[in-house]
Amino acid sequence: MENLQLKSFEEYQQAYKRSVEDPEGFWADIADKFTWRKKWNTTLEWNFEEPDIKWFKGGKLNITENCLDRHLKTRGNKLALIWEPNDPKERFIRYTYRELHERVCQFANVLKKNGAKKGDRICIYMPMIPELAIAVLACARIGAIHSVIFAGFSAVAMSDRINDAQATMVLTSDGLNRGAKQIPVKRVVDEALEDCPSVQKVIVVERLGWAVNMVEGRDVWYHDEVQGVSKDCPAEEMDSEDMLFILYTSGSTGKPKGVVHTCGGYMVYAQYSFMNVFQTQESDVYWCTADIGWITGHTYLLYGPLLSGATTLMFEGVPSYPDNGRFWQVCDKFGVTIFYTAPTAIRALMAGDIDDVLSYSLDSLRVLGSVGEPINEEAWHWYYTHVGKEDCPLVDTWWQTETGGIMISTIAGVTPMKPSHAALPLPGIQPILVDSDGNEIKENGVEGYLCMKFPWPSIIRTTYGDHERARLSYFSTYKNLYFTGDGAKRDENGLYRIIGRVDDVINVSGHRFGTAEIEEAINHNEHVVESAVVGYPHDVKGQGIYAFVIIKDMPEKEEYLRAEIIETVVEKIGKIARPDKIQIVSGLPKTRSGKIMRRILRKVAEGDTSNLGDTSTLLDPDVVDEIKAGAL
Ligand code: WTA
Repeated sequence: MENLQLKSFEEYQQAYKRSVEDPEGFWADIADKFTWRKKWNTTLEWNFEEPDIKWFKGGKLNITENCLDRHLKTRGNKLALIWEPNDPKERFIRYTYRELHERVCQFANVLKKNGAKKGDRICIYMPMIPELAIAVLACARIGAIHSVIFAGFSAVAMSDRINDAQATMVLTSDGLNRGAKQIPVKRVVDEALEDCPSVQKVIVVERLGWAVNMVEGRDVWYHDEVQGVSKDCPAEEMDSEDMLFILYTSGSTGKPKGVVHTCGGYMVYAQYSFMNVFQTQESDVYWCTADIGWITGHTYLLYGPLLSGATTLMFEGVPSYPDNGRFWQVCDKFGVTIFYTAPTAIRALMAGDIDDVLSYSLDSLRVLGSVGEPINEEAWHWYYTHVGKEDCPLVDTWWQTETGGIMISTIAGVTPMKPSHAALPLPGIQPILVDSDGNEIKENGVEGYLCMKFPWPSIIRTTYGDHERARLSYFSTYKNLYFTGDGAKRDENGLYRIIGRVDDVINVSGHRFGTAEIEEAINHNEHVVESAVVGYPHDVKGQGIYAFVIIKDMPEKEEYLRAEIIETVVEKIGKIARPDKIQIVSGLPKTRSGKIMRRILRKVAEGDTSNLGDTSTLLDPDVVDEIKAGAL
């Protein structure tokens, strides 16, 4: 396992230097350690103008042979996947690499039997059950492109994504467990599919044993389909640049876009970054608490660990059920050595009783990780002290759906660690800070817009079905640079601290939403004329959603209106995008050209109206006083 790992700061520095001076040689040496059916012809071809980026062109492989088959000889009986259910009284499930390989092959054969083939888009809308992990790998096995949709999204959000990808199949379950609740899943799929003509088959996994509506000729139960199906399924040969998956994510404009990752580069970077950042060892029990519906679950629950031959833990439940000690109880139960979670979970647990943590031993833990949003110093120290007992490196990992893997992060025990700082870039990653004109800021002790000036293997290739959108979103703001949408500081020693989004994206509990997307949903409500949404600091979620809404008419009571607006957002996007505050206003601060001045709304939402800057250019400056007076 160790042959990809950097073991000292000197080794890191050497690797970093080489990765900049000779990126192709650097990545070719790493890629050589994987199983390829045929070696690539060129290591890298790229330009950021179109953009056109190809890694390991001409190489042939299947990522599941690298995740599963290549481990069978030496790790066949090693645990690949541990699954812990929502209810601690229910039995957990474990699969060795051999067993997981069989399950994936069987599921792949079920997909084929139901008509799936290479290149098809398959949408997976499933809770955190083992079949979700198996289904994702089964798609990759046959060369179908998976598009996992987090099972908390609404039917409308699902059908938008299915139609955008023109998916032909949906993999789902009857229902799901979430804390004390059981939630229908298939019903949401049925509703979504009313508007999805491309979908021909739905395969349903039984989780709750609920009687669900099954559409004749379209819907089948997985447990029926798998009867008598072979556990052997040769992997489809894929080109390095064939699509591996699409994952939808929000940007500052329009509907969520389908970020596309391809087979070869994603594979190489997923394992390289996983093994280095966490410094994994053969005996580790590794737990990433993210849902597979997000990029963190894709790269660091599933692909990264399995590529590395690690034991990965998957958890169906939530941190607060049956009580706030659940995470720590699971750590002790399985002897978790590496624990990777989000700041929002830490902040929620911090607010609870400290004994919920202190009553567990947690002595198996070796490395802690954080992802998804900036981790404030208070949460950092709480996590480091009470969970890590001041004895575990805490890696603050900065990256994005579009980057495929961790970009800037402490390498546990190898590179410097500083509270609330992601710190240094991994080898192969070339971040720069630019000012608003796009000029590089070279000194240290500065702040700027975070960009990348050179491609890495798991960089986004395109946005599905609309390449121009990828160019406009990431490669057109600053010439010849990939723009992240984040602002960052670089301290005197060159360590990065990510400040957060500088575009119209709100990061709620580590989940991204575009303000435009939420506004569009709110505007669907029949009482609403127009709305403007901004983020504001929230103790647990990092950012909360604050909506300023202009209405046509007021229903009987103002509470009804608020409840209805929330209901509309839940219907269009999902519960996770519910506005925290809704202020009814008679107008919005707009410039004479009709552009909403969000800077002013952000200040009001933050509760800081002392200096709103110049408001004289507004069409109607009086509206600002009204908004200030009515602030929530
Ligand atoms: C934010 C999640 C600060 C950032 C992997 C980024 C972070 C967005 C960190 C991507 C971190 C992620 N520190 N901010 N360690 N990690 N972010 O696509 O604003 O869901 O642009 O990917 O989350 O969110 P995404």
